[in-house]
Amino acid sequence: MSKRITKKTALHTAVAKAAPPADSEMTAPSAAAANWRGYLRVGNIITETPGVKTFRLLPSSGDRFLPFTFVPGQFLNVAFWIGGARMNRSYSISSSPTQREYVDLTVRREPRGAVSRHIVDLLKVGDQIEAAGPVGKFTFDGTEADGIVLIAAGVGITPMMSVIRYLTERSWPGDIFLIFTYRTPTDFIFAGEVAALQRANPKLRVAVTVTRPEGTDWKGRRGRITKELLTQSVPNLASRRIHVCGPPAMMEATKAMLLELGVAPDHLKTEAFGATKPTPAAAGTALKQTAAATGPLVTFSTNNKTAKIHVNQTVLELSEELSIGIENSCRVGTCGLCKVKLTSGEVEMAVEDALTPDDKANGIILACQAKPKSDIAVEA
Ligand SMILES: Cc1cc2nc3c(=O)[nH]c(=O)nc-3n(C[C@H](O)[C@H](O)[C@H](O)COP(=O)(O)OP(=O)(O)OC[C@H]3O[C@@H](n4cnc5c(N)ncnc54)[C@H](O)[C@@H]3O)c2cc1C
Ligand code: FES
Repeated sequence: MSKRITKKTALHTAVAKAAPPADSEMTAPSAAAANWRGYLRVGNIITETPGVKTFRLLPSSGDRFLPFTFVPGQFLNVAFWIGGARMNRSYSISSSPTQREYVDLTVRREPRGAVSRHIVDLLKVGDQIEAAGPVGKFTFDGTEADGIVLIAAGVGITPMMSVIRYLTERSWPGDIFLIFTYRTPTDFIFAGEVAALQRANPKLRVAVTVTRPEGTDWKGRRGRITKELLTQSVPNLASRRIHVCGPPAMMEATKAMLLELGVAPDHLKTEAFGATKPTPAAAGTALKQTAAATGPLVTFSTNNKTAKIHVNQTVLELSEELSIGIENSCRVGTCGLCKVKLTSGEVEMAVEDALTPDDKANGIILACQAKPKSDIAVEA
């Protein structure tokens, strides 16, 4: 326990004042080792805000450098055994890819969350974490556009921090706008470091708004993100590249405002931090289907089970009803853990972000997204 850091200032000061990485470490990041899977060791734990902690993860092998590289905005899939069940979750990398010796994951404790409570309450320095990745297409490394608008709510700031840290370390010449909303003044994750980055990077402009300032002495902007806040904070908003990350309701509202303000859909990227409903892994929360299923037949060939699927049910949800263990985490089509091979029939998928061209050519589908259009068979 002696190495545990509980004051955020220690790490953040170190990051903000770190000498620029050597040229050899400043090459453009890539996700070359995207299929990496292994263990990382908790090196430090930093309390960011009430209920949010950053876990600095080091190679567990004793090597100096991480066994993978990543692009700002990507995430890791982590797995824990909790109460006898294996549970997978995804966490965005909040550190910069120029830091080759560690990755930071910043986790908010969900009051009834199975894994986030385990991580925030129980993980300690020296613990090993099973992880895989990096994965994700919610990325920005400065080559995609000559400016970037980052809109975040709450813990949705994590992928944005990786982008801001990286672009600032690289002295990227473009404008960076961060628009951040959080509940109370004490919930500003990375407040000290964002201020330090602003001092270091005159191209970084930050606008924050607090949704629940009542009972505090907060003198800044109040309320949710509005069209006025967006247009006042970002000149020529409609022509900008924009990334949005936050709870589903905030993302939907923000997307709708941006489209109304004339932002082209292909300039807009979003990352959902998971399904809107509790996942079945949270004890007692699995949704039970009551009516008889009337959809196509789904055969899980490895388990030798066949059943009709419900209207709008996914292959993953049916597999859970039948107690077929398909691994999963995000349930929104980004992490790739639920990949299974489709051996016959046809499915439609709303999101296919986690599929590579090779996957598609080989009949791999995402069980969390797949809804059968005909009778199907999958290898699971
Ligand atoms: C690509 C991606 C990146 C992500 N990055 C981050 C990140 O950087 N930081 C971060 O903190 N999270 C991140 N997440 C979210 C993270 O993966 C988890 O979903 C989150 O930590 C909650 O997991 P959990 O096991 O604690 O909650 P779960 O047990 O899965 O519960 C899910 C939700 O349901 C609620 N819930 C649980 N049980 C009940 C119940 N009985 N009744 C009502 N509600 C209930 C929980 O409070 C929680 O909000 C990311 C997700 C994705 C997909
Ligand atoms: S569970 Fe993440 S892509 Fe399906």
